Amino acid sequence: MISVSCMLALTWFSCALGTDSFPGERLSDVSGQQKEFGSDVERQGLERSELWKRSAGLNEQTCTDLTGVESTLQNNTHSFTFKVRTMGSLSLAWVGDGSGVLLVLTTFQVPLFMMRFGQSNLHRSEDHGKTFEDVTHLINHTFIQTEFGIAISPDHSGKVILTGDVSEVGGFRLFRSRDFGMTFIPTDLPFEPLIQMLYNPTDCNVLLTLSTTLELWLSEDFGATWRRIHERVCLVRWGKKNSIYFTTNYNGSCSVRGMLELRKTTDYGKSFKTIATRVYSFVLGGRFVFASIMTGTGTERMIHVSVDGGEVWNMAQLPTVNHEQFYSILTANQDMIFMHVDDPGDLGVGTIYVSDDRGTVFSKSLERHLYTTTGSETDFTVVSALRGVYMTSILTKDGVVETVITYDQGARWQTLQRPENSNCAAETSTNRPSRCRLHIHASYSTTMKMNVPMLPLSQPNAVGLILAHGSVGEAESALSPDVYVSDDGGYTWMLALKGPHHYAILDSGGLLVAVEHTNSPVNQIKFSTDEGQCWHTYNFASDPFHFTGMDSEPGSRSMNVSLWGYRNDFSKWIVITIDFRKILSRDCADEDFVQWLSHSADPSGANDGCVLGYKETFLRLRKDSVCWKGRDYAVTKKLAPCPCTEDDYHCDFGFYRPENSSKCVEQEELKGHPLEFCLNGTTEELQTSGYRRIPGDQCEGGFQPDRKETNLGRMCTSNALHPNSLSDDSSANTAIIVIVIMAILLTSAVTGVWLVKKYVCGGRFLVHRYSVMREHAEADKIEGVDDVDPHYMETGKAQYNEDSDQDLLE
Ligand SMILES: *[C@@H]1O[C@H](CO)[C@@H](O)[C@H](O)[C@H]1NC(C)=O
Ligand SMILES: *[C@@H]1O[C@H](CO)[C@@H](O)[C@H](O)[C@H]1NC(C)=O
Ligand SMILES: *[C@@H]1O[C@H](CO)[C@@H](O)[C@H](O)[C@H]1NC(C)=O
Ligand SMILES: *[C@@H]1O[C@H](CO)[C@@H](O)[C@H](O)[C@H]1NC(C)=O
Ligand SMILES: *[C@@H]1O[C@H](CO)[C@@H](O)[C@H](O)[C@H]1NC(C)=O
Ligand SMILES: *[C@@H]1O[C@H](CO)[C@@H](O)[C@H](O)[C@H]1NC(C)=O
Repeated sequence: MISVSCMLALTWFSCALGTDSFPGERLSDVSGQQKEFGSDVERQGLERSELWKRSAGLNEQTCTDLTGVESTLQNNTHSFTFKVRTMGSLSLAWVGDGSGVLLVLTTFQVPLFMMRFGQSNLHRSEDHGKTFEDVTHLINHTFIQTEFGIAISPDHSGKVILTGDVSEVGGFRLFRSRDFGMTFIPTDLPFEPLIQMLYNPTDCNVLLTLSTTLELWLSEDFGATWRRIHERVCLVRWGKKNSIYFTTNYNGSCSVRGMLELRKTTDYGKSFKTIATRVYSFVLGGRFVFASIMTGTGTERMIHVSVDGGEVWNMAQLPTVNHEQFYSILTANQDMIFMHVDDPGDLGVGTIYVSDDRGTVFSKSLERHLYTTTGSETDFTVVSALRGVYMTSILTKDGVVETVITYDQGARWQTLQRPENSNCAAETSTNRPSRCRLHIHASYSTTMKMNVPMLPLSQPNAVGLILAHGSVGEAESALSPDVYVSDDGGYTWMLALKGPHHYAILDSGGLLVAVEHTNSPVNQIKFSTDEGQCWHTYNFASDPFHFTGMDSEPGSRSMNVSLWGYRNDFSKWIVITIDFRKILSRDCADEDFVQWLSHSADPSGANDGCVLGYKETFLRLRKDSVCWKGRDYAVTKKLAPCPCTEDDYHCDFGFYRPENSSKCVEQEELKGHPLEFCLNGTTEELQTSGYRRIPGDQCEGGFQPDRKETNLGRMCTSNALHPNSLSDDSSANTAIIVIVIMAILLTSAVTGVWLVKKYVCGGRFLVHRYSVMREHAEADKIEGVDDVDPHYMETGKAQYNEDSDQDLLE
């Protein structure tokens, strides 16, 4: 339920010119420190043709040909050439759910001094991208700015808004459609918009936007009439139950951070309530509201958390950071938060903390977590194919990047197992087979300009399935990565395709498709009906074309996939849509499914499969079944409770889990200190044996360690929202907090840039943007908007995070 669209920006220009891959390059991180990336000498030596052969069937003995597929697919391949040139950018958006309606907006603009000249074309498809009609006349040939793109309502009701620039006659004009883009109603806006229209996720007739003069405007009739509800607004977000949260300044400048007020309205602007002052920035995530607030002493900031929409705030029990460090919420769900706290010293690493269910008391989850300071890149990935699974990268003390994974919501992390069918240079050259691990390439590799065209991909309806680029060795290899597949949520992996590929999940995991990422023209698509074990190839065109990106309807239920690109003359956009429905000729029946116990790592153990207090047994498609799950496929699963063990607990505040151990050990620096923290204005003393139930864990009986929070009845400062409350009587209590916090940490100054990344996408209303004008779009970044706004942080980035947490910004 996100009201902003997600952009996938693929610069086909750089693809075409091959500027986005520098295999073998030594990488240096943002701090200038050199990092070593293991090199895989062996792979370099492999012949291209050999790679090709192997990619077509890495398990050739067991793979059988699908007969007659080629001609069937040929009858189901559709090519469409657009009349518009490939100059400028192309945005595409799916309207509705399963409607097959696709809108494509091409925009060409030349930024001139103080004005812009541009031209837009709108195309519409009703058949999943097989054919398009030019419907530019529906918007009266009005120029649509790339920044505003296509705003699709998140409720799949078919509402579409385009923001047109009619500055020659003065102002801006909305083109509004309620019928999946069949007809548009023009409406002149009484202001100049700064950001895209934000749909109220619970009522898509209600829209919100900011004007360039920082006024907050609201419409309750799907954009027909507008009313100004507030002035001097910096950042605005829809909250739950029609609530609106925004920061406002009283000085006319949003750049004077730390002087902002956080306000909220629950009646569409009839009344307002100030819920926090001296705010630096804020974020909504899961059931939590976070704000970074200036504390009493000058430039210092602290994170505050509220679980009741901003009525009661508590300071998060987190390390303090100085002004060069930052905090970042990696993900938040209904139960808990993953928070990254940057280490001092600009090393590009920090520590992940996991919260309790109040979002207040945090404990250490992972050290040396890679998160670059300036590029703000992290490999943190939510694996949506299995509950409790997250992957990310650490930077070891030796300066190598390693992938780690947790299966239990951050309680324990481990390195990835080596895939059975892979080669490892370290094994032969150094005789240290234990060093042969799989490393996954995610955002960090993309930023480092490694040849990684896609981030890891997983889908809730494709249980257990993960596709990702990776390399095997001691550390991430800077050489061309391969595609690996896991079918059990990351426990085991298999080399699936040699070399980098674009990939997509279709038919809820029943069909995988991939196109090789190369600088030369392509005419081949690979597909797999057995979760990536065997791959078949299909030549979709006799005349290869320059491939720029692959797209299918969000939700991974489709059987149609569109390949976008152009031919040698650079002139026209081409889309080739392949309908795979006919090769899965029959519908799946009961006997096509088998029972599968998830998280099963030790089949002999009684607690095998227990994660977060229960076992889940899924019905999964047999690998050898070639059938169609269908659009209405729903994941079937059975739950069984588990007795509690140490694994159902995070280490409590002040405790940590040494590597390879289930036991929580008290942190040296905290020994002998009372564990006290401030909650709702009174001091709580924590008596703990070191374990705290993982939020959301449902285990019963078994291991039940003692844990008690006693209210000591002493008043304390649980938040710094009201500067006066930090005076005299609080000094003793501040000291307590300081002890507790200082104990875990290393520094004293309390501040930080409140950085937030990637959660924008998700849902089914992605806007994909293929753009040669990306540089301009970035350079033109609108001023006055808090850099916490992920809408702006995301737009220029080549990210496609369907797996990212949908709850974080809704
Ligand atoms: C493909 O279409 C042609 C003509 O429409 C038809 O003769 C042929 O049988 C079709 N092939 C398959 C495999 O459906
Ligand atoms: C379409 O645009 C032309 C010129 O820009 C203008 O004269 C005309 O009124 C517009 N028509 C509509 C329906 O907006
Ligand atoms: C506005 O900013 C000026 C300096 O830029 C500062 O002196 C003044 O206190 C600010 N006013 C408010 C209400 O924050
Ligand atoms: C593929 O596209 C066709 C229209 O061209 C549509 O009828 C069909 O339902 C689509 N298949 C799926 C599985 O979405
Ligand atoms: C943890 O286990 C792995 C493999 O089982 C081993 O390589 C590593 O050295 C262990 N770490 C520690 C600190 O014992
Ligand atoms: C703190 O206050 C909130 C709201 O008043 C309440 O729901 C919560 O239970 C309180 N927590 C404690 C530990 O007293």
